[in-house]
Amino acid sequence: MNIFVTGGAGFIGSHTVLQLLREGHDVAVLDNLCNSSEESLKRVKELSGKEAKLYVGDILDRELLDRICDENDFDCCIHFAGLKAVGESVEKPWEYYNNNITGTLNLLDSLRKHNMKNFIFSSSATVYGDPAMIPITEECPKGQCTNPYGWTKSMIEQILMDMAKADKEWNIVILRYFNPIGADPSGRIGENPKGIPNNLMPYVTQVAVGKLERLGVFGDDYDTPDGTGVRDYIHVSDLADGHIKALKKIKEKAGLCIYNLGTGNGVSVLELVRSFEKANGITIPYDIKPRRAGDIAMCYADASKAKRELGWEAKHDIVDMCRDSWNWQSNNPNGYDR
Ligand code: NAD
Ligand code: UFG
Repeated sequence: MNIFVTGGAGFIGSHTVLQLLREGHDVAVLDNLCNSSEESLKRVKELSGKEAKLYVGDILDRELLDRICDENDFDCCIHFAGLKAVGESVEKPWEYYNNNITGTLNLLDSLRKHNMKNFIFSSSATVYGDPAMIPITEECPKGQCTNPYGWTKSMIEQILMDMAKADKEWNIVILRYFNPIGADPSGRIGENPKGIPNNLMPYVTQVAVGKLERLGVFGDDYDTPDGTGVRDYIHVSDLADGHIKALKKIKEKAGLCIYNLGTGNGVSVLELVRSFEKANGITIPYDIKPRRAGDIAMCYADASKAKRELGWEAKHDIVDMCRDSWNWQSNNPNGYDR
């Protein structure tokens, strides 16, 4: 298939582009590189022996979107492009709503004008808010998001549902990711956060590499087995594979479908730290800190629907994730910056 990938230079995008190329698909990427680097796609080329076409530009640029759709005959669009820093979204709500929502509306409009109505969207477990059930199935009602970033995902899902209802030609797969970590086992591509990381795994790897001194564990008094927050960490290569499997659903012309992409296993902050230490033989010094505003105690998936309907399930365990995250960070202490 010929796939249009927005945000394809980013963390999850680059791993998905690699897998798409390896599976023999053609790929065109649109990315404004605001949170990524062309270097990721150069390395994808080195790993796959194939090249994705790159358009450096913005999903807010309607003329560019039309030009890209004119120049290519796409079979499906996988839409990763978006801003994703939770804290920053609280500081800059307009920028987040504009980039993520206006950008997606522009993209959808350009696609439908070109009669290209196959669409895969990167959503997030954040749409469940403080989840009404654990493990979380897709039937779990959406909840109150605690930040504008989360609301952009929830609102875009609603837009997609309404559009699919109004026009039966749309085939849409909404993928709700749990917590993506890890990196391609080659150690050549991985997550490249700017500044001090907000997320747990990149923080841990930067402590391990000596860029940060100690990890702060945000709260040890949650109602969880060891008191620290429990999440469903998923290897980014498994996540990438989920997109390949979702293409199958697109081909079936199934209308709109929603899937959780998680492992189904809850792992606490302290369990993750211990797994990292064991997998890599490195000690991670930490201090218990107060809870972080907006955090929930527990979030893990029931991922059986994706297994049943897409034939997809996560293959990597937490040890693989810790090993591959460290392999990437230790080989690239400054990410893609030299
Ligand atoms: P990322 O920041 O590495 O990738 C996003 C890419 O989109 C970047 O390359 C960025 O430069 C690009 N981009 C942003 N705004 C753009 C615009 N206006 N025009 C063109 N390109 C633009 O993030 P990621 O972790 O790879 O996330 C990919 C998608 O998955 C995002 O939509 C994110 O919200 C979603 N998601 C991520 C997580 C996570 O924890 N990483 C969890 C759930 C959902
Ligand atoms: N944590 C720490 N110390 C840190 C960072 C995180 O103890 O320095 C803890 C958090 O309190 C939480 C767990 O580690 O219990 C995971 O935190 P992350 O920030 O890595 O991930 P979140 O679950 O908070 O959120 C992530 C993404 C969201 C996305 C959500 C669900 O950042 O964008 O997963 O997919 F919506």
